[in-house]
Amino acid sequence: MSKAKPVLGSRAKQPYSEQQLGLTELKPSFRVDLRPHKDKAYEKFIRVNTVKDWSQLTWDRVGKPYEVRSMSEARKKWEREHAKPMDAKTSWQYFNKAFHEWFDKDMPAEISGAQAAFLRSLASFKPSEISAALGDVARHHLWNYVHRIQDGVWDPRGKRSLFEGLNVERPRILFLGAAEGYEAMQLAALYPGAEVVLVDYDEYCKTVRHGEFPDSYPFLGSSKETGGTKVYYKPDFNIEYVVDDIRNLTFGKSFDIVLSVGLLEHFPDAYKPEAVDWHRKFLKDGGYAIFTTPRNQWKSRLFYVIMADIMNHTYRELMTVEQMGLYIYENGFNIIRHGFIKAHNAVIAQAR
Ligand SMILES: C[S@@+](CC[C@H](N)C(=O)[O-])C[C@H]1O[C@@H](n2cnc3c(N)ncnc32)[C@H](O)[C@@H]1O
Repeated sequence: MSKAKPVLGSRAKQPYSEQQLGLTELKPSFRVDLRPHKDKAYEKFIRVNTVKDWSQLTWDRVGKPYEVRSMSEARKKWEREHAKPMDAKTSWQYFNKAFHEWFDKDMPAEISGAQAAFLRSLASFKPSEISAALGDVARHHLWNYVHRIQDGVWDPRGKRSLFEGLNVERPRILFLGAAEGYEAMQLAALYPGAEVVLVDYDEYCKTVRHGEFPDSYPFLGSSKETGGTKVYYKPDFNIEYVVDDIRNLTFGKSFDIVLSVGLLEHFPDAYKPEAVDWHRKFLKDGGYAIFTTPRNQWKSRLFYVIMADIMNHTYRELMTVEQMGLYIYENGFNIIRHGFIKAHNAVIAQAR
């Protein structure tokens, strides 16, 4: 009897298997998605391949990214109190805490709570209270739609589609600015036997964002044994988490894949060559650099205005895939694949 307990426990923690291929399920905080990405639905990486010859592209033609200027109240308050601009590391610490709290919310319950609070605020007849409560309703609805309904943040189908078909075996994967490490885990599911190194200088990312990432979240990948599909969970992966500034890393050229998700757009142009170089520095010859950045589309612009208090503590740009690709091309990479997933542009590149 007593021996049965751990088995039941582990089933509860790992509730999905290959038998459920095609399943999608809405949990209170996120979507589970075991649907294959090879269908005609939108939810896949779209290889736009709009650019045939990157050497012919010019900044005059593609224009420069759009800078998001709405900043969080928390950052403004910090700057008032300290009488100086917030430094980058502090701004990331603020961002990571604020952002992570939203992944944890029970959205249906939170939406009901926010709506009830709005109705109560009407009785106050105070415009500031009513407007704050209305803003809260809007933020909850928007997050629910973008992250939970649409799965636009994790976007497993888009990411699987983007990552598939790389010429690597048991790859060493380095994730720069890894936060919770989602994309490296998705890569590790697709390329079994991977060794993953996550790097972030915010300790909270290791202990909370990655540490508390649900063990029950299924990653659809491949099985080395059968060549078919296999469901993996966070504890299945070989992951080392390094808390340090990327500038301090001393790995050498030892990785098959170097990845960043939402990093490049946080550097003004003067710093972009350095940020791109971080990806080349640790790549083996023939290795792949993978970059994604948020797309410059009206939906994203609106998202960053409504969600400013949660999302905007740092310098941030929205760009097109052509702009992102040109930064990467100009700084010494050949573009192998380019296009977009739901909310992000994506480029896979190899050093020239
Ligand atoms: C926008 S986040 C990455 C997006 C992430 N995928 C997410 O879902 O939040 C960028 C991450 O890079 C980290 N970061 C920024 N500059 C860094 C540096 N110089 N060294 C190490 N980590 C850095 C930040 O702490 C932050 O967690």
